[in-house]
Amino acid sequence: MVNDRKQNARRMFIKKASLGISGLALSSTYGVNALLQPAYADSHQRNQFSRPFNIPPLDTGTRSGRNVKFNLTLAMGEMNFLGPVTTGTMGINSDYLGPVLRAKKGDRLSFSVRNNLVEKATLHWHGLKLPAKMDGGPHQVILPDETWKPEFDLIQPAATYWYHSHTHRLTGNQVYHGLAGLFIVDDESSQHMSLPSDYGVDDIPVIIQDRAFNRDGSFRYVRSMHDRMRGMLGNTILVNGVITPTLSAAKSLLRLRLLNGSNARIYDLSFQDQRAFSIIAGDGGFLPRPQHVNSVRLAPGERAEILLDLSNGNDATLVNMPLANQSRGGMMQMMMGGGNERFNVMRITAPKTANDRGIAIPESLQALPDWNRIKPAQTRKVLLEMAMGPRMMMQGAMGGSPFSINGRVLDMDVINFRVKKNSFEIWEVGNNSALAHPFHIHNTQFQLLARSGRAIAVSERGLKDTVLIYPQESVRLMVPFPEYADPHSPYMYHCHILEHEDGGMMGQFTVES
Ligand code: C2O
Ligand code: CU
Ligand code: CU
Repeated sequence: MVNDRKQNARRMFIKKASLGISGLALSSTYGVNALLQPAYADSHQRNQFSRPFNIPPLDTGTRSGRNVKFNLTLAMGEMNFLGPVTTGTMGINSDYLGPVLRAKKGDRLSFSVRNNLVEKATLHWHGLKLPAKMDGGPHQVILPDETWKPEFDLIQPAATYWYHSHTHRLTGNQVYHGLAGLFIVDDESSQHMSLPSDYGVDDIPVIIQDRAFNRDGSFRYVRSMHDRMRGMLGNTILVNGVITPTLSAAKSLLRLRLLNGSNARIYDLSFQDQRAFSIIAGDGGFLPRPQHVNSVRLAPGERAEILLDLSNGNDATLVNMPLANQSRGGMMQMMMGGGNERFNVMRITAPKTANDRGIAIPESLQALPDWNRIKPAQTRKVLLEMAMGPRMMMQGAMGGSPFSINGRVLDMDVINFRVKKNSFEIWEVGNNSALAHPFHIHNTQFQLLARSGRAIAVSERGLKDTVLIYPQESVRLMVPFPEYADPHSPYMYHCHILEHEDGGMMGQFTVES
C-alpha cells in the first residue's frame, strides 16, 4: 500500500510538474502526510521552501509610563497551511498562534484575556516569575465568553519566554491547534548589548512545531495510545505557522529566537552545511559568552537564541538531525522517543551584499548569578515515571493514568510541595522510564548542577526553566523561589510533553512565607 501511494504520488508529481502546477497544489492533493514519508524525499524536496517566512506581529501593548496593557482574544480560526484545504485552528488575536509580546523588566503588565472559544481555556506565561494567581495555570480557568485580567510586575532579566494554553487535560490539544506565542523581555543591559535587535529584520522569532494533518486538512491530533504514550509527533514542520518556509535575510548577521513549541518532539538543530553558529541565550537569559557550536538540542518548551552569520553569501538550511546520531546507541535512542527523523526546518537566503553586517559577535554577554555560597533549604527528590506494558494496561483499565511524579498522578486538590519564599532548593529529578521527559518548573529560573548520565551541554549552562531528563538519568537543579508567597494558589511542575502533562505527569507547589 505504501508502495502504491508512493508510485501514485510520483506519477502525479510528474504529471503536475509537466502541467506547470505548483508544488502547493500537489501537497494538498495528497496531504503532506504522503509527501513527508521518507520515501518521498525526492519529489517532496521540490516543494519545500516555497512558502515565505512569517514574522508574527509584534505587540508592545499600550503604554503609559511603566504600565503596559495587552488585549488578547482566544478564538477559533482557519488556516490554509497546505494550500486550498482548510485547517481548523485556534489562535490569539489571529487564526493561528499569537502575537510576539514584548515588554521591559520593571514594567507593570496588565492583560485582558478574552475567551471566544466554545471551551474553557487558560493562558500561562511560561518562564515568568509572578504571583501564583497570575500564572495562568490550570487553576486560572477562563470560561467561554469570559475575560481574565491578570496583572503583574515584570521582574526578571531579558530573555525569550513564551505563553500558551495550560488548560486541565486540554493543554496538548489547545496548543496543537495554535494557542501559543512568544514573549520577549528586554532589560537595560540587553538594550545596550551590541546584538541584532531589529525585530523582524535581524532579530527573528522562530517557533518550531511539528504537526500531522488528515486528508481533509484538519489537524490530526492523538489517534492512538501510541500518540498518547510517546507524545504527539507530527510529520510536517511549521515555523511560525508556515510549512518549511524561506526567510530572505536582510542582514548578514541574524539573531534567531528559537522556541521548540512542539507538543513532544525533541530537535537536534543544525545547518545543512554544518556551519558554526553561536548560542547567546537559553530559556531564562544570556549565557556569559557566546558559545560556538554546530548544533543545539531543544526539547519541548526550551528556547535558545543563536547568532547566524551569513556573510559568506551562502544560504543556510536549518535541519533536524536524527537523535540516533548522538552519542548513545541506536536502541537507546529509539526508546528515548521525541522523534527520530531527519528533516528540513527552514531555509534562509543570504543577502546579496555582504557588507551590511554592521555588528560583530560580542566576546562576552552577561555574567550568571553567583549561587556558590547559597545554602539550599533542602533537597527534594522528584521521580518521573511512566508505566509501560501490562502495568500501563492495568492502570488504564482502572481509570488511572500511566503518568506520574513520585508515584502520584496529578490531583488538582493536592499540594505536593510547600517551599519557602526567597529560598533555594536542590531538586534531584530522576527518570525511571524509557522515554526522555522535559521537566519544567513554574515561577523560577534554575541552574543545572549536574547530570548523572552526561555532560551539561553549553546551551544549558545558563538559567533555565525546562530541562530534558534522559531515561534512567538524574539531574540536580539549583532552584530559587522568588518573593511571591500565596499558601492557597499553587504553581505547577511537570513534563512538557503535553500529552504526558495532560495525563497527569504534573505536580503542584505553593510558595509560603
Ligand atoms: Cu510551558 Cu506549565 O508550562
Ligand atoms: Cu510554565
Ligand atoms: Cu514526559
